Amino acid sequence: MTIAIIGLGAMGLGIAQVFAQAGHPVLATDSSADMRASAPARLAANFAPRIAKGAMTEGEKDAILSRLTITGTIPDLAPATLVIEAVVERLDVKQSVFSQLEQRLAPDAVMATNTSSLSVTAIAAGLSRPDRLLGLHFFNPAPVMRLVELAPHGGTAPDALATARRLTEATGKTVIQCADRPGFIVNRCARPFYGEALALLEEGRTPAEIDAAMLAAGYRLGPFALIDLVGADINLAATESLASAMGNHPRYHVFDALRAQVAKGHLGRKAMKGFVFPAEPVAPPAD
Ligand code: NAI
Repeated sequence: MTIAIIGLGAMGLGIAQVFAQAGHPVLATDSSADMRASAPARLAANFAPRIAKGAMTEGEKDAILSRLTITGTIPDLAPATLVIEAVVERLDVKQSVFSQLEQRLAPDAVMATNTSSLSVTAIAAGLSRPDRLLGLHFFNPAPVMRLVELAPHGGTAPDALATARRLTEATGKTVIQCADRPGFIVNRCARPFYGEALALLEEGRTPAEIDAAMLAAGYRLGPFALIDLVGADINLAATESLASAMGNHPRYHVFDALRAQVAKGHLGRKAMKGFVFPAEPVAPPAD
């Protein structure tokens, strides 16, 4: 079954890898010609550490890459059974993508959004085939993280939900169904984690010191390394979106330190500069 991906940034490329590794032909597009052109080389680079360790052969890598076809436009994605959108976290952009897509797909095809914080119901509003749409939220980096949150809206067709679950579970992921509430489960629970770290930063602690403490306390990544991995822009968009959906409750306070980071372009890994990136604190060695 053909899987299609819209948006070849951090998430879209990782999700393309997940399905290509599972043996599916993957069609993918991006509005940026540079992102389209660089996608095969970026995907190949993801495999370099495994090849260097002897955990994967060049032949296996080539077989996975051969399943990925980069296309120029959204109508080229028409043969797909499942289309996953991973474009910028903006309601108007996501709605425009799905409205260009919906009439081109087979009647039983499924459209999924990888949104972290927008309402799936709001994305579906205005579509002529809202019953085919659901949330399918992968985590970063998609090939590594086991969890995928599956979020139907009130009008999602049961067969669309079943198809998305079956295809995603077959890649080895753990799929957990969530209500279409802002932030689903994980991003909701993660807000205070980031928020308290940003509050401590404003009180004079450094990101490196806070991350080092959290690592030594057993967390696998500190809050600032995680913001750098996710992207400060994506983190800000998710926090603002939750704050607005939750009536600006103080739990979702948007800290100036995060806004300033985005204004400076210090977005983390993708900008090669972040709160702690490239000098990420490392976990202390296990005894
Ligand atoms: P990104 O900024 O790395 O990539 C977004 C890509 O979408 C870019 O390559 C851009 O050129 C492309 N794009 C923008 N508008 C487009 C359009 N109209 N048509 C086609 N392509 C378009 O963003 P990232 O981090 O991959 O996030 C994508 C989505 O995934 C967002 O909704 C985000 O909230 C969500 N997400 C992000 C996570 C993260 O850790 N970064 C984790 C889970 C979900």
